[in-house]
Amino acid sequence: MIKIVGIIGAGTMGAGIAQVAATAGCSVKLYDTKTDALEKAKTDLEKIMTRLVEKGKINSEEKNRIQNNIKYVNTLKELKDSDLTIEAIVENIDIKKNVFSTLEKFVSDECIIASNTSSLSIASIAASLQKPERCIGIHFFNPAPLMKLVEVIPAIQTSYETLETAMDTIASWKKTVAVAKDTPGFIVNRVARPFYGEALRIYEEGNASFSEIDSAMKEIGGFRMGPFELMDFIGNDVNYTVTETVFEAFYFDPRYRPAFTQKRFSEAGYLGRKSGIGYYEYDKNGNLVKD
Ligand code: NAI
Repeated sequence: MIKIVGIIGAGTMGAGIAQVAATAGCSVKLYDTKTDALEKAKTDLEKIMTRLVEKGKINSEEKNRIQNNIKYVNTLKELKDSDLTIEAIVENIDIKKNVFSTLEKFVSDECIIASNTSSLSIASIAASLQKPERCIGIHFFNPAPLMKLVEVIPAIQTSYETLETAMDTIASWKKTVAVAKDTPGFIVNRVARPFYGEALRIYEEGNASFSEIDSAMKEIGGFRMGPFELMDFIGNDVNYTVTETVFEAFYFDPRYRPAFTQKRFSEAGYLGRKSGIGYYEYDKNGNLVKD
């Protein structure tokens, strides 16, 4: 029975996952090395909860209960009494491994240690632990409170007990579980690579602009967001890194080759909604600036 959940990283995904777990009644500790990330997560949650009350989706007691379920902490040690921890920090294997091996010193032997990685090998992350059988991938989609699907990814070291508890927990959080194999990009991020990659190539070949490609995919293709809108939403840095990882992990299969356009956008800090500029421009609330 998972009651106390530790979340590592209070960015886009960590903050969203914290909201999901807190809404499900868990006691959540949200940890980040940056105080401003914790403050932003708290302020954003207040805005989200207020909007849900205004829309009549929750009442003010529920709002208070959810918000009170989350404690914002700035040391990893404070996650020590967690039954489950979910890591959502930068998509870098060495940094993740380092955090995992430190975390394991604080938590109990029974604590499940999960990663929200989009594309990295769970086997490799698990290998940083003394007890790798407690490690698993729990991959939410953005925005975590709205997206129903969660991929659960057992590594070859993962015990059946860990898998079962992870699946039951995610189902009890009112999400739909898809068990995926520990292969690069799992299911959704692998299928999504050509969606972004071909859109970038069409743009690079000079065939169409960002907005023309997005419009075509939405109006004719029936997608809710076009590829460039989606890359801006996810973050060009995060999205580029995932493509690079999947490309390398498939032994440089050209089907997954990253595009220079996205690399340059990422290097320039044109990250999308979170930086105010990407393929489109956004105001400080992340809303599209129309010209
Ligand atoms: P983000 O950049 O919004 O947030 C990352 C947070 O982690 C930042 O607040 C940063 O201060 C913190 N952080 C970095 N190193 C840390 C450390 N050593 N200890 C504690 N906190 C640390 O990133 P985002 O988008 O939330 O992604 C996080 C993870 O989730 C990545 O592995 C990414 O691939 C995955 N993911 C991202 C999705 C997306 O759409 N952005 C969707 C699904 C998974």
